[in-house]
Amino acid sequence: MPEQVRLALAQDMIHHRKAEFENIMHEVQQGLQTLFGTSQTVLPLACTGSGAMQAAVRNLFNPGETVLVVEGGKFGRRWSSIAAMHGLRVKSLDVSPGSAVDPSAVEEMLRSDPNVSGILVQASETSTGVLHPVRDLGRIARDRGALLVVDGISAVGISPCPMDDWSVDCLVAGSQKGLMLPPGLSLVACSRRAWERNERVEPRDFYFDLRAEREKSKQGQTAFTTAVSLVRGLKVSLDLILEDGLANLYRKYWALANMTRTGVRAMGLAPFAAEHFTWGLTSVLMPESVDSQKVVSLAAERYNVYLAGGQGDLKGRIARIGHMGYVDWGDLLAGLHALRESVAECGGAVARDGFLQQAVQAHEAAWNESPPGLE
Ligand SMILES: Cc1ncc(COP(=O)(O)O)c(C=O)c1O
Repeated sequence: MPEQVRLALAQDMIHHRKAEFENIMHEVQQGLQTLFGTSQTVLPLACTGSGAMQAAVRNLFNPGETVLVVEGGKFGRRWSSIAAMHGLRVKSLDVSPGSAVDPSAVEEMLRSDPNVSGILVQASETSTGVLHPVRDLGRIARDRGALLVVDGISAVGISPCPMDDWSVDCLVAGSQKGLMLPPGLSLVACSRRAWERNERVEPRDFYFDLRAEREKSKQGQTAFTTAVSLVRGLKVSLDLILEDGLANLYRKYWALANMTRTGVRAMGLAPFAAEHFTWGLTSVLMPESVDSQKVVSLAAERYNVYLAGGQGDLKGRIARIGHMGYVDWGDLLAGLHALRESVAECGGAVARDGFLQQAVQAHEAAWNESPPGLE
């Protein structure tokens, strides 16, 4: 977290129903609308990202409705669990981990079942490092009259996902990733179409009532006690993000992702998401004999570099390098070095020289490109 954010978090408490705080909330709202690319209200909720995912499902669909879930990893499966628990009929579209969903497969499923009233997907599937084609899904959802509900927890503030332009009906974010804050605050916004749908949904959740939240947001308040410190921190992080403009923010992550992928390839390893990769982390497939859990432990012990391992079926098989939030290319030089040394120590065949230089060159080249999605 940037120092300015940490200092904002350290401030004394103020009352969440008084003018001083309401003014902060109104300013935060403007910044969030720019970040989400929407003219709709972005609602802060005092919960982690999964809470906002649950709020989306409960406020947009009635039990018995059918939703299509793109399941390409752990967080896709989370959509299915939340939806099933809410009494929805879940049609899973299984996507091989490491690959992005094929929009034509989604279109085909919607054509074959006109009862599907929503598509639930991750913009960025953090468990595999894949970026799904949200823009294409937006077109399909709009044409077929289904709501597109997007988990943008590891995408918002990292890669473009402009809600209104891409026809996203509900977008969810969390504080602890691109927003450079501690965990505990989530954000959710609904399109006009989604709010219309919400009119037909019977409220079934005392805490996650988005209509009540929207009403309160008009006064710069939340329905329940606000996570005051996190919202204050958010004000500062949004100022930092928007200071340089969203295009530069996205260019930063595009460059970091390309740098990391190049470095990984140059040392002889393969990025797990071969083609459609998320910009905030890089997942790396381990050589056959190497356990990524061991690599992650070694990198932490020897180099003070904290990588993440794989989850579920991918446990032991991939290591993930995070490059979202308050990081820069210098951090990634350390990260790539630690990865290389740790894999080598575990017996993996990796190149010794040249990979850092290639990574830096890739960073520079990518920084001068226009990243996809910004046209
Ligand atoms: C894509 C995605 N969805 C959902 C979640 C769950 O969010 P939380 O742990 O904040 O509830 C995460 C967390 O890493 C995530 O990366």
